[in-house]
Amino acid sequence: MVSSLPAPVSQSVAARLTRAAIFLVVTINPGPAPEKAVRGLCGDLSSLLRGVGFRNLNGQLSCIMGFGSDAWSRVFGAPSPKDLHPFREIRGVHTAVSTPGDILFHIRAASMDLCFELATHIMSRLAGAVSAVDEVHGFKFFDDRDLIGFVDGTENPVGQAADAATLVGDEDPGFAGGSYVIVQKYLHDVARWNKVPVEEQENIIGRHKLSDIEQRDSEKKPYAHNVLTSIEENGEQLQILRDNMPFGEVGKGEFGTYFIGYARSPQRIEKMLENMFIGNPPGTYDHLLDFSRAVTGTLFFVPTATFLDDVDPEA
Ligand code: HEM
Repeated sequence: MVSSLPAPVSQSVAARLTRAAIFLVVTINPGPAPEKAVRGLCGDLSSLLRGVGFRNLNGQLSCIMGFGSDAWSRVFGAPSPKDLHPFREIRGVHTAVSTPGDILFHIRAASMDLCFELATHIMSRLAGAVSAVDEVHGFKFFDDRDLIGFVDGTENPVGQAADAATLVGDEDPGFAGGSYVIVQKYLHDVARWNKVPVEEQENIIGRHKLSDIEQRDSEKKPYAHNVLTSIEENGEQLQILRDNMPFGEVGKGEFGTYFIGYARSPQRIEKMLENMFIGNPPGTYDHLLDFSRAVTGTLFFVPTATFLDDVDPEA
């Protein structure tokens, strides 16, 4: 009798939205020893997660580990996920910059203590092997609003729809169950945004601010955020899963949104970004960008948890 292998288990891409998150992007230091240290962590990540997560079973701790394209080749060699490439800068009316990053850790939990503890253990395992290039501690704001005052995340797919939107399938069988993720750190000019009348803010987002109800299609402006990020292929909407988080430092006047979007192919997120930054048609760009500057931009591939568990540090 031929026994079939169990399907690989995905990392918890579609984990529930949580109150706290750490977005940690690191680069791998030169040389073979750092690469070995990273391979060592891959196999140990699930055990670290269990150790920290068990301290609060209601804490919903999860951690996604994703790899940039250069890092993938260095750490795992060939083959690579078929659509993995460095994030390409998009220059339009505004610019979506491309910035360095070899590994992303997206750590989510009900409270920051769990996120902080796990991040600490991860970085202690990687001491000397990696350099942190960006670390953002995100929090949930009132009613799941971002710092420009709109509820963020409403139209996210859930359940099976979330899996269908985010997990690679037969299009790349060797990497099925994996996912692509793009992160961008945005800084808002909140003082200027708050001077914009609420009615125009609603036109920019395409939803009503207080009620979070979507504007009727006939009301929506062609430059509305939800018009430019709604894309279709063969009559079907191409969805992504977002888990944006507010962050900031009031003393510095820094008010931000950390954008994180998961999808089964990077192209659909890139298309949304082109619509936002260049416009659709070109020139009809996302006016949210007049108040929001992207200061980072990186693409990663998230292999399955099974893949990570099986990584041999000595390979
Ligand atoms: C400054 C950064 C951003 C902010 C503050 C922001 C905020 C919002 C808000 C308030 C909504 C409406 C509620 C909801 O459905 O979540 C929304 C929807 C959405 N956003 Fe963003 N967003 C940002 C960046 C992006 C980027 C970079 C993308 C994609 C590349 C994106 C993709 C989407 C999508 C797909 C929707 C749902 C549209 C729909 O189906 O109605 N967003 N965003």
